[in-house]
Amino acid sequence: MKGKLPITIIFVVLLTFIIFMGAAYANSFNKDSIHTKKANENKSVTASSSSIAKEEKSTQKPLLPKDLSNIESDDYAIPLDTIPDSISCLINRNYPLPETYVPKDLCVPNIDFSFGYSDDKKKLRKVAARAIEKMFRDGKKKHVFLVAVSGFRSFERQKQIYYRNVSNRGKAETDTISALPGSSEHQSGLAMDVSSLSNSYSLSASFASTKEGKWVLKNAHKYGFIIRYQKNKEHITGYHYEPWHLRYVGKDIAAYLYKNNLSLEEYYGVKDTHNTFYREDY
Ligand code: DAL
Ligand code: ZN
Repeated sequence: MKGKLPITIIFVVLLTFIIFMGAAYANSFNKDSIHTKKANENKSVTASSSSIAKEEKSTQKPLLPKDLSNIESDDYAIPLDTIPDSISCLINRNYPLPETYVPKDLCVPNIDFSFGYSDDKKKLRKVAARAIEKMFRDGKKKHVFLVAVSGFRSFERQKQIYYRNVSNRGKAETDTISALPGSSEHQSGLAMDVSSLSNSYSLSASFASTKEGKWVLKNAHKYGFIIRYQKNKEHITGYHYEPWHLRYVGKDIAAYLYKNNLSLEEYYGVKDTHNTFYREDY
């Protein structure tokens, strides 16, 4: 019994030491593994954020190719064009033309007008003039008889029209039908208001129900024109439906906008925040 006691004590001490060392080792192992895990997590966060960055880069929309015939809307990002002389220039209250801008190549197209006297409002830029001549000619072949009512307007002329409207109707209503001087496409020489005898040569929504208005709606894009102020897009364009206001943008863009039912603002992915019908949610 006497000899067994120290052995038992030595055994207990040894066991305690082993247990203590074991616990210490296990603890340090755990810490290591937490560190490793954390480091790995960090690595994977960094890795995944860099892959998000990569993904964001790769989902950036490519710029619009020259041939627009086979592409769908939303496939491409389109750089905004605000160069006054460019046929694809965006003109609205957010993106007005300079006060002094007058196109250099204005001419009177060889088409029927709703009036006989000579006036600057008969004029269009050359490229748009040639296009509208062809459009009116082809229309006639289908017994569609269009007349031109109002084309180019200087900044000064638009100012007179706008403020005459303000004094007759008030500013709020005027801003839904008439552009502030500088923001009218008529100043670009690329817009023409058209009508027909069937609509008493007037610029009214009823033009859309005439044979001429229906033909224009379906065919203007083939000649490079768009119906600039579309139905149900008032909150985007800022104006009531104007089935008579044709804007020349060239055949490619016109066909693309027609096919995808887009306004020029949507095409460029911009908002005319100054417009009366503006909504945050489009
Ligand atoms: N009626 C169009 C918006 C203009 O005044 O140019
Ligand atoms: Zn117009």
